Amino acid sequence: DRSFKVALLGAGTVGSQVARILTEDAEELASRIGSRPELIGIAVRDTTAARDTTVDAALYTTDAEALIDAADVVIELTGGIEPARTRILRALSGGAAVVTGNKALLAKHGTELQRAADAAGVQLSYEAAVAGAIPILRPLRDSLAGDRITRVLGIMNGTTNFILDAMDSTGAQFDDALAEAQRLGYAEADPTADVEGHDAAAKAAIVASLAFHSEFTIDDVHCEGIREISADDVAAAQADGYVIKLLAVCELDGEGVNIRVHPTLIPRKHPLASVRDAYNAVFVESRDAGELMFYGPGAGGAPTASAVMGDFVTLSRRKVLGGPAIPDQSHRNLEATSLSRV
Ligand code: NDP
Ligand code: HSE
Repeated sequence: DRSFKVALLGAGTVGSQVARILTEDAEELASRIGSRPELIGIAVRDTTAARDTTVDAALYTTDAEALIDAADVVIELTGGIEPARTRILRALSGGAAVVTGNKALLAKHGTELQRAADAAGVQLSYEAAVAGAIPILRPLRDSLAGDRITRVLGIMNGTTNFILDAMDSTGAQFDDALAEAQRLGYAEADPTADVEGHDAAAKAAIVASLAFHSEFTIDDVHCEGIREISADDVAAAQADGYVIKLLAVCELDGEGVNIRVHPTLIPRKHPLASVRDAYNAVFVESRDAGELMFYGPGAGGAPTASAVMGDFVTLSRRKVLGGPAIPDQSHRNLEATSLSRV
């Protein structure tokens, strides 16, 4: 029975969901990967904090470095630039594959991390960094790699969409809606990053880098947040048939690429106007494919954990087997059913 060692860094909104899935779905994951992922520890700041009781309490530790050095795969879900950057570099140079959802770090040091991964010949995956559960980075990097993308735009921050939607649909106060977004696990540890547009700007830099085969950082993004949007602004937009959304736009502009994040008036009939709650939507326009739209939950513990686990299974298969595992056959006995309704 083959197995490999997994270190999880962080057990907050997203990390706790990943720990739960690694624990509860251990058998199924082993079957899908072709080798058993053994969760060897979970690095946190405070080992005495109350945690999910389905996860073995003995796994929590403050010694992230020892965990990293013992792991075949490291999942980084702590956030921030340091010590996350140093720890990911340590994991990669030690030969461990890394999954992260840390867009703030990727938008500053993505090139350095990718070069370290390439030099070590290991995988660095970060689908969860943009638009939560929505698969958007892999389509940009792989599916559309032979096309020419001309523009990517959309709602890429769940917290600000939740706030603007609450102000528009129920007349909620800005601060109350922000507090609710924090309670639901949508906001960053420091929600200023959401409200000021920096989180969406980080995502726009990551998206633009993949879409335009270049290296952009958050410093290349013009950024305006929603802090100044008042109830009067929302009401005035409503009266004119518009809704206010925080849009991220990455587009070819002459010879260069223009990347910006700012509040935008969207006509009520436009598909982006119907993106509610903490959902995200990303439009991609390309020369050959035409127009594509990606839509789904853009933030929150379980949706983001779904993206993390997708990366984890994919790179674990590659790392452990050098290729995809034999498909799980356990669901083959499904009876043919009559047509059902959606
Ligand atoms: P939380 O703030 O909820 O959790 C952070 C976790 O990391 C906590 O368990 C904390 O420990 C631990 N931690 C923080 N600093 C350290 C450190 N120096 N050493 C060891 N452990 C540390 O964050 P989220 O789960 O919301 O986010 C995690 C990452 O995922 C971030 O990069 C975020 O941007 C990204 N992300 C989040 C999404 C979301 O919807 N929340 C969506 C997409 C990406 P302790 O519990 O002891 O405090
Ligand atoms: N704080 C982020 C958001 C989490 O609200 O979109 C998902 O990246």
